[in-house]
Amino acid sequence: MSDAEAITELAKRRGFFFGANGAYGGVAGFYTFGPQGATLKSNVEAAWRDRFTVKEGNEEIEAPTIMPEAVFEASGHLEGFDDMLVECGECGESHRADHLVEGETSIEEAESLPASEIEMLVRDHGIACPTCGAPLAGRDVEDFNLMFATSIGPGSGQPGYLRPETAQGIFVEFPRLKEYARNKLPFGVTQIGRAYRNEISPRKGIVRTREFTQAELEQFVNPERDEPDLSKVADVAVRLYPATEQEDEDGDYVRTTIGEAVAENVIANDWVAYYLGVAKKWYERIGVDTDRFRFRQHLSGERAHYAADCWDAESEIGGAHDAAELAADPAAGDWIEIAGFAYRGDYDLSKHGEYGDDEFTVFEQYDEPKTVERAVVDPDMSVLGPEFGGVAGDVADALRSLAERNPDAFEGETVTVEVDGEEYAVDADAANFRVEEQTETGEHITPHVVEPSFGVDRTVYTLVAHAYSEDVVDEEERTYLDFEPGIAPTDVAVFPLLSDEELESLANRVVDDLRTAGLSVTYDESGNIGRRYRRQDEVGTPFCVTVDHEGIEGGGPETVTVRERDTTAQVRLPVSDLATRIEAIHAGEESFETLLDEYESVQTDVSKS
Ligand code: GLY
Repeated sequence: MSDAEAITELAKRRGFFFGANGAYGGVAGFYTFGPQGATLKSNVEAAWRDRFTVKEGNEEIEAPTIMPEAVFEASGHLEGFDDMLVECGECGESHRADHLVEGETSIEEAESLPASEIEMLVRDHGIACPTCGAPLAGRDVEDFNLMFATSIGPGSGQPGYLRPETAQGIFVEFPRLKEYARNKLPFGVTQIGRAYRNEISPRKGIVRTREFTQAELEQFVNPERDEPDLSKVADVAVRLYPATEQEDEDGDYVRTTIGEAVAENVIANDWVAYYLGVAKKWYERIGVDTDRFRFRQHLSGERAHYAADCWDAESEIGGAHDAAELAADPAAGDWIEIAGFAYRGDYDLSKHGEYGDDEFTVFEQYDEPKTVERAVVDPDMSVLGPEFGGVAGDVADALRSLAERNPDAFEGETVTVEVDGEEYAVDADAANFRVEEQTETGEHITPHVVEPSFGVDRTVYTLVAHAYSEDVVDEEERTYLDFEPGIAPTDVAVFPLLSDEELESLANRVVDDLRTAGLSVTYDESGNIGRRYRRQDEVGTPFCVTVDHEGIEGGGPETVTVRERDTTAQVRLPVSDLATRIEAIHAGEESFETLLDEYESVQTDVSKS
């Protein structure tokens, strides 16, 4: 079984994720998270919220998932949010043309190539339809818009779309959000929610789906002034794969720190660099294997229509390569994008300012008021009215605009302006042109945006793939998921060793204590203890607590055993200490080693229980 197959099998059997709507044949690209998966995902979201919203001092919103067409006209998604589609002439199946090319050639990012080149590559490499095997040479490669269209309201309604990114919900509300931020840059707004893309060929389980969860942060900055505190991340070690290295046949990783990457201009934007550093530490904290992790810069043809620069966080999910191989060869491994860090400039706010009916700028107060010279006109309407009739007002507006753009135009005896393609000559005296000194207290600027955008489902998949481990315990092969405490779906499992009223009663009290301490606890009394351990190992539960007779006999304080998942080491400790100690490990304040040092170690042979 390949790694992917083993993960898919485990995910379905143990309730992490599985194809949705199975009773109706299923539809590709839609997944249901089972009890373990939904909790794991929710823990990832909580960890993200804590790091990127709370600890960064940002604000979170929740916007609708359906938005009117005008939003996507402005954002450019209607025009440019396309993938390359090729349809088989024989069986009619549609495929993502760039992915077919990547599968049959050594090209890694074929989406950066123009459609005409993809058509040539399909022909030259004799690429065939993966469904029926018919040759695809000569078939057109077309742009396919990835948005799901809908109709809002009854009848033909108003056209709308399911949002392809949560980001637009933040951008369109910017006029109000800036008020909440008291009109002061920089500020960041986050959102965790569903997004939808009508993928041509969904694949790799929850890695490429048609409905998925994003966790996005839009950082609004004044590009001339605002800087992140790079000292917080300067020492973070990163493995970078810049565009220049990808384009070079012998290209290699740049192993550096965030501080050095900024100093050497490998990462051009300081805010992007800052968030790469924060993200690297966060990924480590939630359990991403850093030997299977890198930041890859987008090639210029690969960037989304709104991005001036973009770096992806990528994880390796194939698992067939060891760390040394993955470190030596950027082409080795099966890498997927799990987050993008795009510098979107003022693209989005300018577009919504142009198309929307509101102010997408921020008034930036100067430290000191400035005195500036301004060219102004005060057109004499008693002259313009009789001369130009119905267009006099437009002529006056055109004069005002011309004074701002080109004051020299007012030097002659007449000044000419254009209204709706017609030229109008105005007596310069009637324009009342002059240069005035004005005091200005600030200016309106369109903030720039840096966007760390995380795919939550792909992060969940990466955590499962990186946690997936096999070993032999008590002469039996075992599969376990070595999730971090705090991220694992279940924190503790509690078992009465035998079916016995006294043991069950204490076990239930232990469950209550642990739940009161805020831990997620499962109770299991079925099957032998070895089976119960294996069940918990397979869902990554860090600790199993067993209540046995030894713990209630002898008249001393009640005790239980605690078994750690990865080492299977066990200690016996008083019930009165249990919740506090496990809570401390869960919070990252202690480790199981401390318990091993402090309490009596226990050896058990589960095959005899
Ligand atoms: N907001 C970035 C993306 O959806 O890809």
